[in-house]
Amino acid sequence: MTFIAERLKKIKPSMTVGINVKANALRAEGKDVLVLAAGEPDFDTPSNIRKAAYDAIEAGQTRYVPGKGTPALQKAIQAKFLKDNNLKYELDEIIVGVGGKHIIYNAMMATINPNDEVIIPAPFWVSYPDIVLLAEGKPVIVECTEDQQFKITADQLENNITEKTKWLMLNSPSNPTGSLYSEQELKDLAEVLLKYPQVLIMSDDIYEKIIYDNLEFFTLASVEPKLKDRCLTLNGVSKSYCMTGWRLGYCGASKEIISAMNKIQSQSTTSTSSISMAAAVEALNGTQHFIKDHNKAFVRRRDLVVSLLNQINGISCLTPEGAFYVYPSCKGIIGKETPGGKKIKNDEDFMSYLLESEGIAGVHGAAFGLSPYFRLSYATNDEILKDACSRIKRACEKLK
Ligand SMILES: Cc1ncc(COP(=O)(O)O)c(C=O)c1O
Repeated sequence: MTFIAERLKKIKPSMTVGINVKANALRAEGKDVLVLAAGEPDFDTPSNIRKAAYDAIEAGQTRYVPGKGTPALQKAIQAKFLKDNNLKYELDEIIVGVGGKHIIYNAMMATINPNDEVIIPAPFWVSYPDIVLLAEGKPVIVECTEDQQFKITADQLENNITEKTKWLMLNSPSNPTGSLYSEQELKDLAEVLLKYPQVLIMSDDIYEKIIYDNLEFFTLASVEPKLKDRCLTLNGVSKSYCMTGWRLGYCGASKEIISAMNKIQSQSTTSTSSISMAAAVEALNGTQHFIKDHNKAFVRRRDLVVSLLNQINGISCLTPEGAFYVYPSCKGIIGKETPGGKKIKNDEDFMSYLLESEGIAGVHGAAFGLSPYFRLSYATNDEILKDACSRIKRACEKLK
């Protein structure tokens, strides 16, 4: 007998969270482990944002606040969308949630009927398929290969749309690949989407500000305004403002969807923390100068890691355009044998081998829906990255 609901049988716990827990436990036991699995910047939340939170506490902003966000935060988000994305959302087209993940969860719960299909280009952020399953939808995984920079093409999209398609998930820059959709690529997807009015689009822009090489960010709702009412433009403070623990995400979408999401929120979390909301107002309205500094560090680390990984036999790595992950191929490693005589059959075996032999915690590609790859986060300092790459090299050289 079990007390657990049937619907939970379909889903698994977040793999990335799990790997971080395992790696940190090994560390706590005194093992020398380099954790390159984290999905968060290594910088502290900037001091002006922290101060806004202290001030909010002292000013007594410690009571219930509107679930959709305080008026100050709603206005800050409205101004952000207009300034950064040229998107004009009314206040009743904006909602704040307990992180970007929670926004996705509420959006799926608010819209999916059993067996509605959600097109998820792979490699994908690990939570998308499981959130869809939890909402009783059907993930339709579309493999996007390295030679298409891991991005879905207009043809692939059209070939996978059915009458049951409810959502397309888009994530740019992407976790895990760092690939960025260009304006033209989004226009091509928009051309297809305009033909299918039943399809909503989740534009997960959470890494919007972490972009390199002077590339420009585009989001679907502004590239094709005719799709704006069908787009849910998702963003949050976790990544750009180093606020992963504050748990605050937000989105702009049609009034109908926002109101449905608000209904769920009003009967579940009520709202995210009032203190986090005050901090997010400062994040969005205050100085943005640190973003440039962070990106300078990220791009240096990216170049370092890409170049070191590409010097390892059996591994090859594209240069990502944004976010703080690399997604190297380990095709040349598959089939080799460890010094202990174990065959490396897939990327999961390779990651286990790296963890056991050299204390490197990364995430295997299968978790993101495309093998044989692995994801390393370079949101850590240069010394650790150099050490990690030389350990990976050593581990690979020991394989036969
Ligand atoms: C692609 C993507 N979307 C959404 C999120 C959710 O971020 P949070 O819930 O911390 O705001 C993450 C976090 O890792 C992510 O990588």
